Amino acid sequence: MKIDIVSVFPEYFEVLNLSLLGKAQAKGLVTVQAHNLRDWTHDVHHSVDDTPVGGGAGMVMKPEVWSECLDDLLGLAPAIIAADAAVDDAVADDAAVDPSRPVLIFPNPSAPLFTQQDATELSHADHLLFGCGRYEGYDARIPQYYRAQGVDVREYSIGDYVLNGGEVAVSVMLEAITRLMPGFMGNPASIVEESYTGGNALLEHRQYTKPAEWRGLRVPDVLLSGDHGKVDRFRRDEALSKTSGLRPDLIEGLDCTQLDKADRKT
Ligand code: ADE
Repeated sequence: MKIDIVSVFPEYFEVLNLSLLGKAQAKGLVTVQAHNLRDWTHDVHHSVDDTPVGGGAGMVMKPEVWSECLDDLLGLAPAIIAADAAVDDAVADDAAVDPSRPVLIFPNPSAPLFTQQDATELSHADHLLFGCGRYEGYDARIPQYYRAQGVDVREYSIGDYVLNGGEVAVSVMLEAITRLMPGFMGNPASIVEESYTGGNALLEHRQYTKPAEWRGLRVPDVLLSGDHGKVDRFRRDEALSKTSGLRPDLIEGLDCTQLDKADRKT
């Protein structure tokens, strides 16, 4: 997978050379390149933003600089959108990724929430291009324009809070996506039973390791019993009750046909 990131703080992404993503790069599984948006400016101040049209506080990132950068990275020639063209305003969806098409992703606190399902879908792409907004965000015509050019453009929020820019959000999405790529994890089994994973996603049950007793606290006896059926049932019950307490929305989304009788009693 090829990953391009555009930011006014490309140094922020130097940490991606560490840890598992660093190893995945060394193995040739993924290439990550961070670009400085200011390299596509032409003025002496290398400005990337301007005041909002219609008034308001803060600054908005300019479409001209972004388009020169994105045209270069996507290999597109500049075009003019016809005045009567239908410009699709849709934001991120969970449509299937066509691996042969690049996916352009903008983190945005006003967009749909980025989920494990999105991460799974995006892990099948060959080329991801992330654009990090700053200040009050980016001109709304940028995603519109690239959608009109046939690019798969998605906008995601990583949570109901506002960050200073898209860099942290891109790091979060990047880690969630790349760890799902075949060959990325040393032990692929570790991603199979995680929270938010699978058709009937629940929060994951609690985990324990040895010793069986630590500072007066004991691991639940059933986990020491060696009875795999009982262990599975205990973990499943815990996942169900934890999810119903903390995330009733996930319980509402469960497919009841996939539940067994024992599940329904909890
Ligand atoms: N940029 C600023 N805040 C953000 C958020 N919560 N998610 C994605 N991008 C952002």
